[in-house]
Amino acid sequence: MKIFVNIVTLAVLGFPVPTLTAPSECPKNPLMFKATLVNITGESQLGTNIEGAATDKAGNFYTANFGNDTNAIAKLNSNGTLSLAYHDKNGNTWFNSIRTIKSETANSSFVMFAGDIAGHRVVKIEGLADNKPKATDFCKDSKMLQPNDMALTSDGNLYLSGMNYTATSTVGSGDLWWCKADGKAALLDKLHRTNGIEVSPNNIYLYLSESVNVDGAVTENRIMRYEIDAETGVKYENKVPKKTVFVDFKQLDGTQATDIDGMRCDEKGRLFVTRNGLGEIAVFSRDGCLLARIEVPGMKSVKNLEFSGAKGNILHIVGVCDKGKGARNDTAGMGCIATWNRASVGLEWSQL
Ligand SMILES: *[C@@H]1O[C@H](CO)[C@@H](O)[C@H](O)[C@H]1NC(C)=O
Ligand SMILES: *[C@@H]1O[C@H](CO)[C@@H](O)[C@H](O)[C@H]1NC(C)=O
Ligand SMILES: *[C@@H]1O[C@H](CO)[C@@H](O)[C@H](O)[C@H]1NC(C)=O
Ligand SMILES: *[C@@H]1O[C@H](CO)[C@@H](O)[C@H](O)[C@H]1NC(C)=O
Ligand SMILES: *[C@@H]1O[C@H](CO)[C@@H](O)[C@H](O)[C@H]1NC(C)=O
Ligand SMILES: *[C@@H]1O[C@H](CO)[C@@H](O)[C@H](O)[C@H]1NC(C)=O
Repeated sequence: MKIFVNIVTLAVLGFPVPTLTAPSECPKNPLMFKATLVNITGESQLGTNIEGAATDKAGNFYTANFGNDTNAIAKLNSNGTLSLAYHDKNGNTWFNSIRTIKSETANSSFVMFAGDIAGHRVVKIEGLADNKPKATDFCKDSKMLQPNDMALTSDGNLYLSGMNYTATSTVGSGDLWWCKADGKAALLDKLHRTNGIEVSPNNIYLYLSESVNVDGAVTENRIMRYEIDAETGVKYENKVPKKTVFVDFKQLDGTQATDIDGMRCDEKGRLFVTRNGLGEIAVFSRDGCLLARIEVPGMKSVKNLEFSGAKGNILHIVGVCDKGKGARNDTAGMGCIATWNRASVGLEWSQL
């Protein structure tokens, strides 16, 4: 039986403290929660290709695709007002992923990295806090499949996922790239389609989703776990990247036909995973136990997520709203944001 807990009981309840238990000792019944669609003040201008999620320390939330432009990044102020944060001068730019990190040069400021699918590059954007954005190419390689999404270590190393969507996937339909803190790009691994990607607290593990297609059907969805290495990107064994299956949705709950999309950690290392098509976020402990499911009513196509808000504890979920649920005058297919509050603080926010 599914039991939905309201916000008040939730604060008391919390999650079980993650311990290094064997998967057989995982909680029998994951907790069930519900997120709420944000009522954006005025008319929302979030486009259907809404993607990427990031925060600043003040609690403003960022997502790409403003005014339906793939080269524009939107800012959601804590008072619910949407505005344009950055507009790339190249009209072909397609931002699909964003991340933020503390600025090394200015206090209380931050730097944003934005992944451009069309340009096969990562753009570094400074000056957003002062509303004077200045962008430079940070990392670029035409051999990158996309990038689709990005993870960022606390010391400025980026890991990029990407895919070439075909009816039947092969190893090489997805890739894993490393952009070192100096901007140099290196291919680390080839897989089936890759998408969601995240780094654990203290830069120990790298989580990467892998999805398999056979004859037009999605047949596998799993999360792989690598060990991060400062010298080589990830640890290798016999010259191949060492990786293990962290979660396999075929074994977990039979939802392997639904793609994994954006993934984010909280500061305790719990992994929040969007399931694009299920309208659900799955929450895993550090050892891969399913702790909770967060339903997102009104948004089946959940795409990405990040903790934001003044205390860094409001999970913001972006995606395409269901018909009739759109923030933009109830138009189906526009971008939406949903939120979910709890005591847990985001890893990105805690490092800003
Ligand atoms: C959003 O707006 C709708 C329609 O005005 C209202 O019914 C709903 O309660 C609002 N939701 C929140 C969280 O304020
Ligand atoms: C937004 O952009 C998408 C993709 O380019 C397009 O299909 C859609 O019609 C646009 N929607 C609006 C409301 O302009
Ligand atoms: C929301 O906050 C922004 C930035 O502080 C401000 O410019 C805007 O006027 C505020 N809007 C409302 C409706 O309070
Ligand atoms: C940042 O803050 C620290 C401590 O308050 C101060 O010593 C330093 O000069 C500041 N740096 C800049 C660039 O403002
Ligand atoms: C993507 O897959 C198609 C079909 O297999 C292939 O023709 C194309 O070269 C691939 N693109 C890249 C960038 O690998
Ligand atoms: C919704 O659309 C209708 C028709 O285009 C328009 O009259 C109305 O002002 C819009 N409402 C909002 C809240 O934008």
